[in-house]
Amino acid sequence: PESHSGIKTASASTVMAVNKLKTMDDLGGPSFMTTLYWLFVKGYFQTTQQLQIEHSKIYGPLWKSKYGPLVVVNLASAELIEQVLRQEGKHPVRTDMPHWRTYRELRNQAHGPLTEMGANWLRIRSILNPRMLKPKHVSSYANTINGVVSDFICRLDLLRETSGRGVMVNDLTAELYKFAFEGICSVVFETRMGCINEVVPKETQKFIFSVGEMFRLSPIVILFPKSFWPYLPSWKKFVATWDHLFKVAEDLVKNKIDEIQENVHLDKEIEGAYLTHLLLSEQMTTTEILGSITELLLAGVDTTSNTVSWSLYHLAKEPDIQEQLYQEVINVCPGDKVPNSDDIAQMPFLKAVIRETLRLYPVVPGNARVTVENEIVVGNHLFPKKTLFHLCHYAVSYDENIFPNPHTFLPQRWLRGGEDKSKQHPFGSVPFGFGIRACLGRRVAELEMYLLLSRLIKHYEVRPDPAGTPVKPMTRTLLCPATPINLQFLDR
Ligand code: HEM
Repeated sequence: PESHSGIKTASASTVMAVNKLKTMDDLGGPSFMTTLYWLFVKGYFQTTQQLQIEHSKIYGPLWKSKYGPLVVVNLASAELIEQVLRQEGKHPVRTDMPHWRTYRELRNQAHGPLTEMGANWLRIRSILNPRMLKPKHVSSYANTINGVVSDFICRLDLLRETSGRGVMVNDLTAELYKFAFEGICSVVFETRMGCINEVVPKETQKFIFSVGEMFRLSPIVILFPKSFWPYLPSWKKFVATWDHLFKVAEDLVKNKIDEIQENVHLDKEIEGAYLTHLLLSEQMTTTEILGSITELLLAGVDTTSNTVSWSLYHLAKEPDIQEQLYQEVINVCPGDKVPNSDDIAQMPFLKAVIRETLRLYPVVPGNARVTVENEIVVGNHLFPKKTLFHLCHYAVSYDENIFPNPHTFLPQRWLRGGEDKSKQHPFGSVPFGFGIRACLGRRVAELEMYLLLSRLIKHYEVRPDPAGTPVKPMTRTLLCPATPINLQFLDR
């Protein structure tokens, strides 16, 4: 009968469709030896962002590689990245992060938002999210951050006078690390740490150093199977740096607990922001709070500071773009007016400058997802559960089909009505990630960067170092400048 044959045809074509799907075995890509050759002989170990581009030229936008014990499926096109992210499930996992998680298990510490997985991750995020991401809470941090910006401007003035012959600030990124640490601590702990004072507290300096070390050691440790770690000097250093990160966070949390208890004792009204709220809401144990706070501090330093460094670097090189930004800022905030969050809302060009900076220098140059719940189809290939996908955001940011003149710093391309905007793929540049696992600090980071950059440009004309050479990016888990950025700051 007709109906019967109809069904038969349909099921036959389904079988055909499934049969037509390729598998992981059909993917090309370098062997582990070839990857080691690229990393250590051709010298891409510190420029793995560029390796994304080189390998996608050889293997196309979808290829397989081996990194120590890991098999990685690499995606270097906006469409393929979109396909994976749209199938990420209820509890997306970035990577198993066995090295970060093993440390926590070794020391009986709790996982924070970066490292936790499954239902507990969702629970933690739902507690941490509101005061980090809701606009009304985030804008309440503006005054605190503006205080840090004022101190940073004093610090720049001091540096110019004492070591810059009145104009130069050397190694701006190192200064911005201190700003970023002070900024995130001021939001999270409601406490000023003194990081941008003339003498930086030793603990703070060591915290910033430890964050860098941890990011540097991570890709080394992960090259080896877990059973090798106890014998690796890099693992021992890695554990020591984490010990320090947790120790600093622990002292800060303890101080806050004491402070709150004292205030209760004195019957004072307790007010405060992030940590006070977490401690008083009693939705997490103190150990859990410590695990989360440590990860927030860790994620909150290199990210914003590197981004602002690159913005200033390009604004110094392109006086016309800098002038356009300056005009926007003084139009919204004439005279001595210090920008607040309402003012920032009226500065689209400022936002476009940061957006374009993050396209050219995505702090997270390669992100990841592990398919935990289901097997998924991506680009005609069927991938089993637990496949590790490497999302090559850096390569896609330079795709000329999405971003014409990809190597040019063009904030205009992000403005409404700009000619390029219509062509842009929504997954062409996703610097804060995607979906429910996206960056927890996004709104705070943006506020910090907008308040700082607008004020700096209002205060100074920024110029390149006349003796400077071009600064290239390198990857140390995160993308950062490979050599110091030195700039001249002239009073307006
Ligand atoms: C320019 C600044 C920043 C950029 C570009 C950035 C980027 C990112 C990206 C790409 C992710 C991964 C998202 C995903 O997998 O979909 C992420 C995660 C995260 N970020 Fe940021 N970030 C920045 C600043 C911050 C700051 C200031 C904080 C701290 C307040 C922070 C805290 C976090 C945390 C905790 C996660 C993990 C979220 C989770 O796994 O649930 N980030 N960030």
